[in-house]
Amino acid sequence: MSTAKSGLPAHVAIIMDGNGRWARRRAMPRYLGHRQGVKALKTAVRYASRRGIGTLTVYAFSTENWRRPKEEVDFLLDLMYKTFVQEIEELRREGVRIRLIGERTSLSPDVLAIWDNAEKVTAENTGLNLNVAFNYGGRTELTRAVRELVGQAARGEISVEDITEEALARQLYTWPSPDPDLIIRTGGEYRLSNFLLWQAAYSELYVTEVLWPDFGEREFEEALQDYLRRERRFGQVPQKEQNS
Ligand code: IPE
Ligand code: IPE
Ligand code: MG
Repeated sequence: MSTAKSGLPAHVAIIMDGNGRWARRRAMPRYLGHRQGVKALKTAVRYASRRGIGTLTVYAFSTENWRRPKEEVDFLLDLMYKTFVQEIEELRREGVRIRLIGERTSLSPDVLAIWDNAEKVTAENTGLNLNVAFNYGGRTELTRAVRELVGQAARGEISVEDITEEALARQLYTWPSPDPDLIIRTGGEYRLSNFLLWQAAYSELYVTEVLWPDFGEREFEEALQDYLRRERRFGQVPQKEQNS
């Protein structure tokens, strides 16, 4: 069943937070939490596919995460690399179409090559669209988009009037994905942490205390069910009051 019929979100975005706390609670080093987080990600990707979600965007590494200790940053880069190497074939077979969203600067040629390969080998797939936000920051994304449009205007390729909301959205990494209908944040924090700042304008937000490594199918389904109970108004009056 398509999400249009089921009422399920066409696009779900997840801020996968809480790996460090998950490990600390078990008196384990933080990196083991990240490793466990990859397992939760695999479960979430499969579940999103199974539920007919069109697009899943996951926040894996922010432009601010470089501020962490070098060992942790190196571990995360390596984990991302290895996960892609290990999982790409299965994801390709499952029909997942991968897109990396984030800044290419500061990343090693190895990492960039594995990204490009992941996008290339899954480009023709028609199943779940999986956007992996890595070295992603909403402000950087917006600044880049503005710079591009202003550059086009300065070169006379477009006029200032051509700088519309749609023109700006087209310059974002997420284009042509629709805006996320639902943004899930695990780990209990009520903030966006620089995630999808433009695209989140009308997203429904769902925060759970569950830490990312513990986020399984049941927790994902709970978030979807919560979403189904929301009334999205987009600035209008409630549906039942529309004719009064
Ligand atoms: C999220 O888990 C993963 C990344 C940000 C890369 P954290 O590492 O932020 O875990 P907590 O928030 O410290 O528990
Ligand atoms: C958000 O988590 C980024 C990712 C999940 C990749 P953080 O742990 O970095 O966010 P803050 O620091 O609590 O805002
Ligand atoms: Mg965190």
